[in-house]
Amino acid sequence: MSAALSIGFRERATEGEILDQEVAEDEARRSLADIRLVNRWLGGRRALRRAVLPYLKPGARLLDVGCGSGDLPAFLADGAPEPFLAVGLDRKALHVREAPFPVRPVVADVRALPFAPRTFDVVTASLFLHHFDAPELPAVISTLHGLCRGALVVNDLHRSAVAWGFSRLFFPFLFQSRISVSDGLLSIRRGFRPRELQDAFAAAGLPRPEIERRFPYRLVAVAEA
Ligand SMILES: C[S@@+](CC[C@H](N)C(=O)[O-])C[C@H]1O[C@@H](n2cnc3c(N)ncnc32)[C@H](O)[C@@H]1O
Repeated sequence: MSAALSIGFRERATEGEILDQEVAEDEARRSLADIRLVNRWLGGRRALRRAVLPYLKPGARLLDVGCGSGDLPAFLADGAPEPFLAVGLDRKALHVREAPFPVRPVVADVRALPFAPRTFDVVTASLFLHHFDAPELPAVISTLHGLCRGALVVNDLHRSAVAWGFSRLFFPFLFQSRISVSDGLLSIRRGFRPRELQDAFAAAGLPRPEIERRFPYRLVAVAEA
């Protein structure tokens, strides 16, 4: 834990994650599998489903931005009481190619999205917003919120020295990819305090959303259209 103290958690880290660079295909696939493990066992799936379900009316359209291998939209589609259209978008073709049926893959950068305003009932962003530094966040949030008729649901990490300390111990045993160990620890340092996320929504011209803390270190924000 002394390493955590020397790093400092008052401010979000600004270094870039390795998976956002060019990465060998087999290493990227291993890292995406590690992210699925995190989603499954460290709260990502449950936290998201609870927040999204009220907006998944029959025939609804859902967009998951920065979907990686499409794990979360596939999970939502699998457990949904009624069928809905699930679109997974990522700027890396390799990532969205991994998305299972029925997720419809789209390759695009969030800064240049190929959709008209209000195309989707719900837009989700899981482990995605922390990829952006503070100055860029309001524009990204505003774009995503403008796409939805129902709600934007953000599911991201709560920055915490304790989370980082435990993760530093366990990630090397949990993950197949060394990238996941490094990016996972950095993601926690790039994560948010609730107030920072609320301020980013306010800077996007939106009301500050209610933010729920979910076990173990998740923040879920829901901003209705
Ligand atoms: C940590 S992964 C999370 C994947 C997925 N949301 C999940 O939880 O399983 C972040 C994803 O965001 C994508 N990404 C990063 N910057 C992006 C951008 N500007 N536009 C679209 N996707 C982006 C990355 O390629 C990566 O697949």
